[in-house]
Amino acid sequence: MTVVDLSDHAEEFAADPYPYYAKLRAAGPVHRIRTEAAGEVWLIVGHGEARRALADPRLSKDWRVSNLWDGTPAGTPVGTNMLESDPPHHTRLRGLVAREFTARRIEALRPRIQRVTDELLDAMTAGESRTADLVDSLAFPLPMTVICELLGVPDLDRDSFRGWSNEIVSPTGADAEDAAVRAMGEYLAELVEDKRSSPGDDLMSALIRTRDEDGDRLTPDELVGMAFLLLVAGHETTVNLISNGVRALLAHPDQMAALRADFGLVDSAVEEMLRYDGPVENTTYRFAREPFDVGGLVIPAGGSVLVSLAAAGRDAVRFPDPDRFDITRTAVTGNTGRGRGPGHLAFGHGLHFCLGAPLARMEGRIAVRTLLERCPDLALAPGAGPLEWLPGLLMRGVRRLEVRW
Ligand code: HEM
Repeated sequence: MTVVDLSDHAEEFAADPYPYYAKLRAAGPVHRIRTEAAGEVWLIVGHGEARRALADPRLSKDWRVSNLWDGTPAGTPVGTNMLESDPPHHTRLRGLVAREFTARRIEALRPRIQRVTDELLDAMTAGESRTADLVDSLAFPLPMTVICELLGVPDLDRDSFRGWSNEIVSPTGADAEDAAVRAMGEYLAELVEDKRSSPGDDLMSALIRTRDEDGDRLTPDELVGMAFLLLVAGHETTVNLISNGVRALLAHPDQMAALRADFGLVDSAVEEMLRYDGPVENTTYRFAREPFDVGGLVIPAGGSVLVSLAAAGRDAVRFPDPDRFDITRTAVTGNTGRGRGPGHLAFGHGLHFCLGAPLARMEGRIAVRTLLERCPDLALAPGAGPLEWLPGLLMRGVRRLEVRW
């Protein structure tokens, strides 16, 4: 079959991948693609096929299932986290943290999330200039502060951490990525040791203390992997929910006006932001344990698979008029089981469904609503220059978003 080379259009693809996904979807739900960074992989672009693939145990998250695995032991502790593992290992790791992320526990964080948002917006609007980079002022520091406080690492060196973390999820090159993984691993191992010697009333300390029923506990490497996953997944994604969401509202004045007229729409507006231009463009890799039939094709055993959440969110079979940004779209209710049929896949689906979805939703709703309340005439800053897009296939977002009010 034809291999579609996405690197031929790298720049336009990064700025607006949706027309390319639409062309692929029109030709079929599954494709073989070539990318600069990953070589040849299978890409699933249909909503129904994406949903089924994410719940299918024939697709593994263990890199050693891949036909590209050269027999070397699994890499660094940073890479051996629950998102990179299958049951029963995944079940054990997820079980240890899942109770901290229930909707009830997250609800208890609401006043703190509102206070952090208010303080960040106080600082943003304090100066004379009435312009700011929204990423730097709100979209990055809000989720970062919240996840650090939850884990119990409020004094994290955020500038270094942000640099490594950006490089890992949106790599600019293989060497830079390797260096960031190493630096992050060493830094987190020290952080875990510090927590061990001076524990507190927080999630990291609880994970260090935890023993399950068999007296089993997380190894030092597993703790590093867990801290890495929670810290990185906890902020790299939500930052783009806020900035992509505000960008979508600014580009659709009628939808902005509808939300301003009725903030009761904020929950469905955030779901539409996730569907229309969500933070995770394509999932992390999965590997076929055995020949895997999907969308009329067979992916051979060992093949690497990406599920395109961005393409699935614009599938007209599931979402009528999918390129229209409509904050009142009632069918889009996430994977909460409400509404008519399954919703968007922005948080994934199946065993690896996003652990932090209730937290991310709450942060997104509070950030967007409070920003609009505080800045009634919010607009893109004039003369801000072209947007700089995150590289790579995983994340969808911009490095800076200059706004004025
Ligand atoms: C809008 C924000 C977010 C989006 C769009 C998002 C999206 C996702 C997606 C698509 C996956 C599955 C990836 C795959 O199957 O390859 C995932 C997994 C995960 N997310 Fe999120 N996420 C967000 C926020 C968060 C937050 C705030 C946290 C943590 C506090 C978090 C923690 C995790 C974890 C731990 C996993 C792995 C779960 C597992 O392997 O069982 N995420 N997320």
